[in-house]
Amino acid sequence: MSSVTVRVPAKVNVQLSVGPLREDGYHDLVNVFHAVSIFDRVEAKESDAITVAVEGKWADQVPVDDGNLAIRAARALAKHAGRSYGADLVIHKEIPVAGGMAGGSADAAGALVACNELWGLGLPFEDLMEIAGDLGSDVPFSLLGGTAVGTGRGEELSELPTGGTFHWVFAPAEGGLPTPSVYAECDRLRKESDAEVPWPELNERLIEALSTGDAYALGSYLSNDLQDAALALRPELATTLDAGRQHGALGAIVSGSGPTCAFLAIDATHARDLAASLTATGAATSAMAAHGPVPGATLA
Ligand code: C5P
Repeated sequence: MSSVTVRVPAKVNVQLSVGPLREDGYHDLVNVFHAVSIFDRVEAKESDAITVAVEGKWADQVPVDDGNLAIRAARALAKHAGRSYGADLVIHKEIPVAGGMAGGSADAAGALVACNELWGLGLPFEDLMEIAGDLGSDVPFSLLGGTAVGTGRGEELSELPTGGTFHWVFAPAEGGLPTPSVYAECDRLRKESDAEVPWPELNERLIEALSTGDAYALGSYLSNDLQDAALALRPELATTLDAGRQHGALGAIVSGSGPTCAFLAIDATHARDLAASLTATGAATSAMAAHGPVPGATLA
Protein backbone atom coordinates (compact mmCIF):
# COMPACT_ATOMS: atom_id res chain seq x y z
CA MET A 1 0.00 0.00 0.00
CA SER A 2 1.55 3.34 -1.01
CA SER A 3 -0.94 5.77 0.55
CA VAL A 4 -3.64 5.68 3.26
CA THR A 5 -6.15 8.41 4.19
CA VAL A 6 -7.97 8.68 7.52
CA ARG A 7 -10.83 11.03 8.44
CA VAL A 8 -10.95 12.31 12.04
CA PRO A 9 -13.64 14.43 13.74
CA ALA A 10 -13.47 17.51 15.96
CA LYS A 11 -15.02 17.42 19.44
CA VAL A 12 -17.02 19.63 21.72
CA ASN A 13 -17.22 19.08 25.48
CA VAL A 14 -20.84 19.01 26.64
CA GLN A 15 -19.68 18.80 30.26
CA LEU A 16 -16.17 19.80 31.32
CA SER A 17 -15.76 19.70 35.09
CA VAL A 18 -12.26 20.52 36.28
CA GLY A 19 -11.07 19.28 39.67
CA PRO A 20 -8.22 20.67 41.77
CA LEU A 21 -4.71 21.04 40.31
CA ARG A 22 -2.74 17.78 40.74
CA GLU A 23 0.92 17.49 41.64
CA ASP A 24 1.77 16.44 38.07
CA GLY A 25 0.39 19.74 36.71
CA TYR A 26 -2.82 18.16 35.34
CA HIS A 27 -6.36 18.34 36.70
CA ASP A 28 -8.72 15.45 37.35
CA LEU A 29 -11.67 15.87 35.03
CA VAL A 30 -15.14 14.73 34.27
CA ASN A 31 -15.05 15.42 30.58
CA VAL A 32 -18.01 14.49 28.38
CA PHE A 33 -16.71 14.48 24.81
CA HIS A 34 -18.98 14.57 21.76
CA ALA A 35 -17.52 14.08 18.25
CA VAL A 36 -18.92 16.41 15.58
CA SER A 37 -18.90 16.46 11.78
CA ILE A 38 -16.00 18.82 11.17
CA PHE A 39 -13.19 16.60 9.92
CA ASP A 40 -9.46 16.74 9.32
CA ARG A 41 -8.06 14.21 6.84
CA VAL A 42 -4.64 12.70 7.46
CA GLU A 43 -2.93 11.06 4.51
CA ALA A 44 0.16 8.89 5.07
CA LYS A 45 2.37 8.14 2.05
CA GLU A 46 5.29 5.75 1.79
CA SER A 47 8.59 7.44 2.60
CA ASP A 48 11.99 6.84 4.21
CA ALA A 49 11.53 9.50 6.90
CA ILE A 50 8.61 10.86 8.95
CA THR A 51 7.59 14.30 7.61
CA VAL A 52 4.44 16.43 7.75
CA ALA A 53 2.82 19.02 5.48
CA VAL A 54 -0.44 20.86 6.13
CA GLU A 55 -3.06 21.98 3.59
CA GLY A 56 -6.44 23.69 3.86
CA LYS A 57 -8.19 26.40 5.83
CA TRP A 58 -5.88 26.87 8.82
CA ALA A 59 -2.68 25.44 7.31
CA ASP A 60 -0.44 28.44 8.05
CA GLN A 61 -1.17 28.19 11.80
CA VAL A 62 -0.03 24.57 12.22
CA PRO A 63 3.59 23.79 13.21
CA VAL A 64 5.37 21.35 10.88
CA ASP A 65 8.31 20.75 13.23
CA ASP A 66 8.58 18.48 16.27
CA GLY A 67 5.72 20.42 17.85
CA ASN A 68 3.34 18.75 15.39
CA LEU A 69 1.37 16.09 17.26
CA ALA A 70 0.90 13.94 14.12
CA ILE A 71 4.69 13.58 13.71
CA ARG A 72 4.99 12.66 17.38
CA ALA A 73 2.19 10.11 16.94
CA ALA A 74 3.90 8.46 13.93
CA ARG A 75 7.21 8.33 15.81
CA ALA A 76 5.56 6.85 18.91
CA LEU A 77 3.90 4.17 16.75
CA ALA A 78 7.19 3.28 14.99
CA LYS A 79 8.88 3.06 18.41
CA HIS A 80 6.11 0.81 19.72
CA ALA A 81 6.59 -1.44 16.66
CA GLY A 82 10.37 -1.42 17.24
CA ARG A 83 11.31 -0.34 13.70
CA SER A 84 12.39 2.91 12.01
CA TYR A 85 9.46 3.32 9.61
CA GLY A 86 8.91 6.44 7.47
CA ALA A 87 5.78 8.26 6.26
CA ASP A 88 5.05 11.57 4.55
CA LEU A 89 1.97 12.84 6.40
CA VAL A 90 -0.30 15.36 4.70
CA ILE A 91 -2.94 16.95 6.93
CA HIS A 92 -5.98 18.50 5.22
CA LYS A 93 -7.17 20.88 7.91
CA GLU A 94 -10.81 21.83 8.56
CA ILE A 95 -10.77 21.82 12.39
CA PRO A 96 -9.87 25.22 13.92
CA VAL A 97 -6.27 25.33 15.21
CA ALA A 98 -5.82 25.80 19.00
CA GLY A 99 -9.60 26.30 19.02
CA GLY A 100 -10.71 23.97 21.83
CA MET A 101 -11.97 21.35 19.35
CA ALA A 102 -9.07 18.85 19.64
CA GLY A 103 -7.69 19.58 16.16
CA GLY A 104 -4.12 18.60 17.08
CA SER A 105 -5.37 15.49 18.86
CA ALA A 106 -7.44 14.58 15.78
CA ASP A 107 -4.32 14.74 13.60
CA ALA A 108 -2.40 12.55 16.06
CA ALA A 109 -5.21 9.99 16.09
CA GLY A 110 -5.37 10.12 12.28
CA ALA A 111 -1.62 9.56 12.01
CA LEU A 112 -1.81 6.53 14.33
CA VAL A 113 -4.58 4.85 12.29
CA ALA A 114 -3.03 5.78 8.93
CA CYS A 115 0.50 4.60 9.79
CA ASN A 116 -0.79 1.41 11.44
CA GLU A 117 -2.36 0.61 8.06
CA LEU A 118 0.44 1.96 5.80
CA TRP A 119 3.11 0.02 7.67
CA GLY A 120 0.94 -3.12 7.84
CA LEU A 121 1.36 -3.32 11.62
CA GLY A 122 -2.16 -4.55 12.33
CA LEU A 123 -1.99 -3.30 15.92
CA PRO A 124 -5.30 -3.69 17.78
CA PHE A 125 -7.38 -0.65 18.76
CA GLU A 126 -6.41 -1.06 22.46
CA ASP A 127 -2.69 -0.62 21.60
CA LEU A 128 -3.46 2.54 19.60
CA MET A 129 -5.53 3.84 22.54
CA GLU A 130 -2.59 3.32 24.90
CA ILE A 131 -0.16 5.16 22.62
CA ALA A 132 -2.80 7.88 22.16
CA GLY A 133 -3.09 8.44 25.93
CA ASP A 134 0.65 9.12 26.16
CA LEU A 135 0.45 11.68 23.33
CA GLY A 136 -2.22 13.89 24.94
CA SER A 137 -5.33 13.85 27.11
CA ASP A 138 -7.77 14.21 24.18
CA VAL A 139 -6.09 11.88 21.64
CA PRO A 140 -7.84 8.65 22.81
CA PHE A 141 -11.24 10.29 22.28
CA SER A 142 -10.29 11.36 18.75
CA LEU A 143 -9.69 7.66 18.02
CA LEU A 144 -12.92 6.54 19.67
CA GLY A 145 -15.41 9.24 18.57
CA GLY A 146 -19.14 9.12 19.37
CA THR A 147 -19.95 10.45 22.84
CA ALA A 148 -17.91 9.38 25.85
CA VAL A 149 -16.98 10.45 29.35
CA GLY A 150 -13.29 10.89 30.10
CA THR A 151 -11.99 10.75 33.66
CA GLY A 152 -8.48 10.96 35.08
CA ARG A 153 -6.88 13.68 32.99
CA GLY A 154 -9.52 12.89 30.37
CA GLU A 155 -7.93 9.84 28.78
CA GLU A 156 -9.84 7.08 30.66
CA LEU A 157 -12.90 6.74 28.46
CA SER A 158 -16.32 5.12 28.76
CA GLU A 159 -18.72 5.32 25.84
CA LEU A 160 -22.10 6.97 26.42
CA PRO A 161 -25.32 6.14 24.56
CA THR A 162 -27.03 8.92 22.59
CA GLY A 163 -30.62 8.83 21.43
CA GLY A 164 -30.30 10.70 18.15
CA THR A 165 -28.40 13.39 16.32
CA PHE A 166 -27.66 16.80 17.83
CA HIS A 167 -27.17 19.87 15.62
CA TRP A 168 -24.49 22.44 16.39
CA VAL A 169 -22.94 25.67 15.20
CA PHE A 170 -19.28 26.43 15.83
CA ALA A 171 -17.86 29.94 15.63
CA PRO A 172 -14.04 29.87 15.56
CA ALA A 173 -12.32 33.02 16.84
CA GLU A 174 -9.28 34.67 15.29
CA GLY A 175 -6.07 33.42 16.94
CA GLY A 176 -6.15 30.32 19.14
CA LEU A 177 -5.85 29.93 22.90
CA PRO A 178 -3.09 27.61 24.19
CA THR A 179 -4.73 24.98 26.44
CA PRO A 180 -2.10 25.27 29.24
CA SER A 181 -2.72 29.06 29.49
CA VAL A 182 -6.46 28.52 29.92
CA TYR A 183 -5.97 25.92 32.67
CA ALA A 184 -3.44 28.28 34.34
CA GLU A 185 -5.97 31.13 34.19
CA CYS A 186 -8.62 28.83 35.68
CA ASP A 187 -6.23 28.04 38.60
CA ARG A 188 -5.46 31.75 39.03
CA LEU A 189 -9.14 32.74 39.14
CA ARG A 190 -9.86 29.97 41.65
CA LYS A 191 -6.97 31.06 43.88
CA GLU A 192 -8.23 34.64 43.72
CA SER A 193 -11.77 33.68 44.75
CA ASP A 194 -10.42 31.31 47.43
CA ALA A 195 -13.45 29.01 47.00
CA GLU A 196 -13.17 25.27 47.60
CA VAL A 197 -12.77 23.39 44.28
CA PRO A 198 -15.26 20.51 44.30
CA TRP A 199 -14.38 17.02 43.08
CA PRO A 200 -15.80 16.74 39.52
CA GLU A 201 -19.02 14.71 39.24
CA LEU A 202 -20.89 13.50 36.17
CA ASN A 203 -24.20 15.35 35.66
CA GLU A 204 -26.74 12.51 35.48
CA ARG A 205 -29.39 14.80 33.94
CA LEU A 206 -27.03 15.61 31.09
CA ILE A 207 -26.43 11.88 30.54
CA GLU A 208 -30.21 11.37 30.44
CA ALA A 209 -30.59 14.21 27.90
CA LEU A 210 -27.91 12.61 25.69
CA SER A 211 -29.47 9.16 25.90
CA THR A 212 -32.99 10.38 25.08
CA GLY A 213 -31.81 12.74 22.33
CA ASP A 214 -33.45 15.71 24.13
CA ALA A 215 -31.68 18.76 22.65
CA TYR A 216 -33.64 21.23 24.83
CA ALA A 217 -32.52 19.48 28.02
CA LEU A 218 -28.96 19.04 26.76
CA GLY A 219 -28.83 22.76 25.94
CA SER A 220 -29.81 23.66 29.49
CA TYR A 221 -27.20 21.34 31.07
CA LEU A 222 -24.15 22.27 28.92
CA SER A 223 -21.32 23.28 31.26
CA ASN A 224 -17.65 24.15 31.00
CA ASP A 225 -15.45 24.97 34.02
CA LEU A 226 -12.85 26.48 31.66
CA GLN A 227 -15.31 29.01 30.28
CA ASP A 228 -14.68 31.77 32.86
CA ALA A 229 -10.94 31.46 32.22
CA ALA A 230 -11.39 31.58 28.43
CA LEU A 231 -13.66 34.65 28.81
CA ALA A 232 -11.15 36.33 31.12
CA LEU A 233 -8.49 35.89 28.42
CA ARG A 234 -10.85 36.77 25.54
CA PRO A 235 -13.70 38.97 26.92
CA GLU A 236 -15.15 39.55 23.44
CA LEU A 237 -16.34 35.91 23.33
CA ALA A 238 -19.17 36.84 25.75
CA THR A 239 -20.76 38.93 22.97
CA THR A 240 -20.62 35.99 20.54
CA LEU A 241 -22.23 33.65 23.11
CA ASP A 242 -24.99 36.21 23.84
CA ALA A 243 -25.70 36.66 20.12
CA GLY A 244 -26.17 32.90 19.73
CA ARG A 245 -28.63 32.80 22.64
CA GLN A 246 -30.55 35.72 21.11
CA HIS A 247 -30.85 33.74 17.88
CA GLY A 248 -32.47 30.86 19.73
CA ALA A 249 -29.52 28.59 20.57
CA LEU A 250 -30.64 26.00 23.14
CA GLY A 251 -27.25 26.35 24.80
CA ALA A 252 -24.11 28.42 24.17
CA ILE A 253 -20.69 27.56 25.59
CA VAL A 254 -17.01 27.95 24.90
CA SER A 255 -15.75 24.69 23.35
CA GLY A 256 -13.16 23.09 25.66
CA SER A 257 -10.37 25.60 26.34
CA GLY A 258 -11.71 27.88 23.56
CA PRO A 259 -11.78 30.26 21.87
CA THR A 260 -14.31 28.53 19.54
CA CYS A 261 -17.90 29.12 20.68
CA ALA A 262 -20.37 26.21 20.41
CA PHE A 263 -24.14 26.61 20.02
CA LEU A 264 -26.67 23.81 20.26
CA ALA A 265 -29.44 24.22 17.68
CA ILE A 266 -32.97 22.78 17.51
CA ASP A 267 -32.45 20.95 14.21
CA ALA A 268 -30.38 21.11 10.99
CA THR A 269 -32.39 24.03 9.56
CA HIS A 270 -32.03 26.04 12.75
CA ALA A 271 -28.27 25.32 12.77
CA ARG A 272 -27.94 26.66 9.21
CA ASP A 273 -30.00 29.78 10.06
CA LEU A 274 -28.09 30.36 13.29
CA ALA A 275 -24.73 30.12 11.49
CA ALA A 276 -25.95 32.59 8.85
CA SER A 277 -27.27 35.04 11.49
CA LEU A 278 -24.06 34.96 13.54
CA THR A 279 -21.95 35.91 10.53
CA ALA A 280 -24.47 38.34 8.98
CA THR A 281 -24.69 40.35 12.23
CA GLY A 282 -20.91 40.33 12.68
CA ALA A 283 -21.20 38.43 16.00
CA ALA A 284 -18.83 35.84 14.50
CA THR A 285 -16.34 36.11 11.64
CA SER A 286 -17.23 32.59 10.51
CA ALA A 287 -19.63 29.88 11.67
CA MET A 288 -19.93 26.21 10.73
CA ALA A 289 -23.01 24.03 11.12
CA ALA A 290 -22.24 20.44 12.15
CA HIS A 291 -23.87 17.42 13.80
CA GLY A 292 -22.89 14.78 16.29
CA PRO A 293 -22.19 12.17 17.36
CA VAL A 294 -19.96 10.88 14.53
CA PRO A 295 -17.37 8.04 14.57
CA GLY A 296 -13.72 8.57 15.55
CA ALA A 297 -10.69 8.18 13.27
CA THR A 298 -11.83 6.10 10.27
CA LEU A 299 -10.06 4.91 7.11
CA ALA A 300 -11.43 7.03 4.24
O1 C5P B 1 -2.64 16.32 27.73
P1 C5P B 1 -2.39 17.54 26.90
O2 C5P B 1 -0.98 17.66 26.44
O3 C5P B 1 -3.36 17.72 25.80
O4 C5P B 1 -2.65 18.77 27.88
C1 C5P B 1 -2.26 20.07 27.54
C2 C5P B 1 -2.24 20.91 28.80
O5 C5P B 1 -3.55 21.10 29.31
C3 C5P B 1 -1.45 20.33 29.96
O6 C5P B 1 -0.11 20.65 29.86
C4 C5P B 1 -2.10 20.98 31.16
O7 C5P B 1 -1.64 22.31 31.32
C5 C5P B 1 -3.55 21.09 30.73
N1 C5P B 1 -4.38 19.97 31.21
C6 C5P B 1 -4.70 19.90 32.56
N2 C5P B 1 -5.47 18.87 33.02
C7 C5P B 1 -5.96 17.95 32.15
C8 C5P B 1 -5.66 18.00 30.78
C9 C5P B 1 -4.86 19.03 30.33
O8 C5P B 1 -4.27 20.74 33.35
N3 C5P B 1 -6.72 16.99 32.63
